[in-house]
Amino acid sequence: MKPSLSSESPMRLAVDAVAIGVRSGDTRGPWFDRLDRATRGLLTHAVEQEQWKAERGEVLRIPVRSGLVARGVVLVGLGGQAATAHDARVVATHAARTARVERLGVVLDAADAAHVRAAAEGVLGGAYRFDRYRTKDRSGERRLREVVLVVGAPIDAAMRGALEAGRIVGESVCLVRDLVNMPPNDLTPTALAEAARAQCAPLGIDVTIWDRAQIKKNNMPLLEAVGRGSGQEPRFVHLRYRPRGRARSRVVFVGKGLTFDSGGLCIKTAKQMADMKCDMAGAAATIGIVRAAARLRLPVEVHGLLGCVENMSGDHAYRPGDVFPSRLGKTVEIINTDAEGRLVLADVLAYGAELEPDCMIDHATLTGACMVALGRYCAGLYANDETLAAQYLEAARTAGEQFWRMPLLDDLRETLRSEVADIKHTGDQYGGSITAALFLREFVGKTRWVHADIAGPAYLESPHDVQPKGGTGFGVATGVRFLESLVGG
Ligand code: BES
Ligand code: MN
Ligand code: ZN
Repeated sequence: MKPSLSSESPMRLAVDAVAIGVRSGDTRGPWFDRLDRATRGLLTHAVEQEQWKAERGEVLRIPVRSGLVARGVVLVGLGGQAATAHDARVVATHAARTARVERLGVVLDAADAAHVRAAAEGVLGGAYRFDRYRTKDRSGERRLREVVLVVGAPIDAAMRGALEAGRIVGESVCLVRDLVNMPPNDLTPTALAEAARAQCAPLGIDVTIWDRAQIKKNNMPLLEAVGRGSGQEPRFVHLRYRPRGRARSRVVFVGKGLTFDSGGLCIKTAKQMADMKCDMAGAAATIGIVRAAARLRLPVEVHGLLGCVENMSGDHAYRPGDVFPSRLGKTVEIINTDAEGRLVLADVLAYGAELEPDCMIDHATLTGACMVALGRYCAGLYANDETLAAQYLEAARTAGEQFWRMPLLDDLRETLRSEVADIKHTGDQYGGSITAALFLREFVGKTRWVHADIAGPAYLESPHDVQPKGGTGFGVATGVRFLESLVGG
């Protein structure tokens, strides 16, 4: 679905329903009063009747008989917070999610590129469904076909560019959600690698895929070790987007691609294992970011490195007590086979550092401990460079995604000391997200680096704010925004 722009009045817009954002304070926003007057007080009446509070994300659908060309109004609550462009994302998402019409108008509170961009991302995200595994005919359901973003001013080139960029980011987010929601019997490491190829190669992105033998031969011993317990072969994927002109910067993204994490021999409980198809969300986000960068033709060289593997307990499985070399040479003592993500990332980060990029960003559903620290909706952000951390957090703010800076506490490093090898891969009981990040830091050398622990927000049990249940596509909007910020976008 392609949202379009219009500077038509919301009263005359030829759609089935118009959606507006409404604040909970005394001033309800620029459009409420105008639409209320046009419908002779219908909105005020409905709000009072339903005792609708305009809480953030709360939706009220009101059928309209006269006063507007549209046959309905959708009110989306914005609460009492200060207005930002992210509100446009909230309004568009909830309207697209709940409108149950074919043609929808979304009225923006401000006529600028930032609002258009956020709304376009929201429309695509809100209309997202994962129903490819349902055989029942659902053609009776009304599907959104057309969305018009209404800007109360003449449309300029910046708004058109923002519309297209928002659409590109929104499509990447939906692709990532699909990959995360795919069942792990279908989305094996091989299938994930092939999906990366299918999504990227047609855009002129170079794609290199290593099978098990090549992973071994080309020196990724830790990735290979994690893959031993599965009948499904691991894959390493290197995506490379090179812009046509001179690249103004070179950035490497790394993604954890565990298509299923049973815990291995240190097996998880049934409850812990239930959603572990989501453990490739970092790899999926990486594909989404590289793809968007290519479609936006950003003047940045962008690499995507994916460690795709399944953590199982077959008879060749790696065990606690095993010692393996790493790509860097450092030997690693295995303590807990469920701490597999950091092993995979260690080799892939070392490979990334060899590319000598300006910076390297990894996304990984790495630790339950990060969810204990920050809850379900916020990612942990670690960085070895203050400027890079600030830039990344600023990109996240614009993109409407929550990250919280976490500390790389040097005094926890000693918990990774091993008696038999150079390092062990888990620390003690406390600070589990931090010690995981400290382990990763051992493999990035002097590369400026961000580690995003997305265990919480990558996959949700129920919808929250603009995110749906299941795979969310978390990280894509921020990653793309960060790349744009590097080139003054
Ligand atoms: N994939 C999990 C982390 C995870 C947990 C992601 C919940 C999403 C939701 C990771 O591989 C893992 O099992 N981590 C262990 C590490 C521990 C054994 C040191 C954990 O967090 O318990
Ligand atoms: Mn695990
Ligand atoms: Zn895992």
